[in-house]
Amino acid sequence: MEKKRIKVAIAKGRILGEVLRLMKNCGYATKTIRKNTRELVFDIDNIRVLICKPADVPKYVELGAADCGLVGSDCIAEAGCDIYEPHELPIGKCKMVLACLKNKKLKLLAGSILTIGTKYPNITKEYFAKKKISPEIVYLNGSVELAPLVGLADAIVDITETGETIKKNNLKVVDVVKEVCCKLVVNKTSQKTVGKEIRFFISSLLK
Ligand code: PRP
Repeated sequence: MEKKRIKVAIAKGRILGEVLRLMKNCGYATKTIRKNTRELVFDIDNIRVLICKPADVPKYVELGAADCGLVGSDCIAEAGCDIYEPHELPIGKCKMVLACLKNKKLKLLAGSILTIGTKYPNITKEYFAKKKISPEIVYLNGSVELAPLVGLADAIVDITETGETIKKNNLKVVDVVKEVCCKLVVNKTSQKTVGKEIRFFISSLLK
């Protein structure tokens, strides 16, 4: 019987290159995706690839626009969608950290009054709730490291991979909030209807 084509949402940005390299090494014809970067839908072999903003991947999968997705665990945790997370991939590893200006002494005592700049308000609230702190959150879309430099926030919660952005902006890591990696996420209905195809796709990437 012919295999059904599955729709795979892949996060653009830093994960995309690593996912494409992995797929290419596993024999998928990913060349067209590299060339036509403004296109968002690509049919390769038995897969329809959808190129999405990382934060949107869990939503595409939850709502069934994609059968499965490849995205960082940071975006999955922040979105809080009703999806399966059956596999971790050995790519996209980085850390989510709390960071502030190098010369600042950040008080993390119960009841401390803090303003935090972040793209991850839900994760940030959860992290501080465990410390009995309810910070004011300034939601930012990017270049989060700028916030402490201009007095917009006392500290930030953001991901760091090489540590370069933190270093170049005179910041220091105060605490690790979460370890982050790339995960496969699966729509709950697709798990039943195209589970075999999804398992074949992920096992070809993990072998
Ligand atoms: C991410 C993150 C940091 C930076 C950290 O930003 O938000 O700003 O990478 O990486 P590093 O530790 O390797 O320096 P991204 O490049 O995704 O862009 P953004 O600032 O627009 O979110």
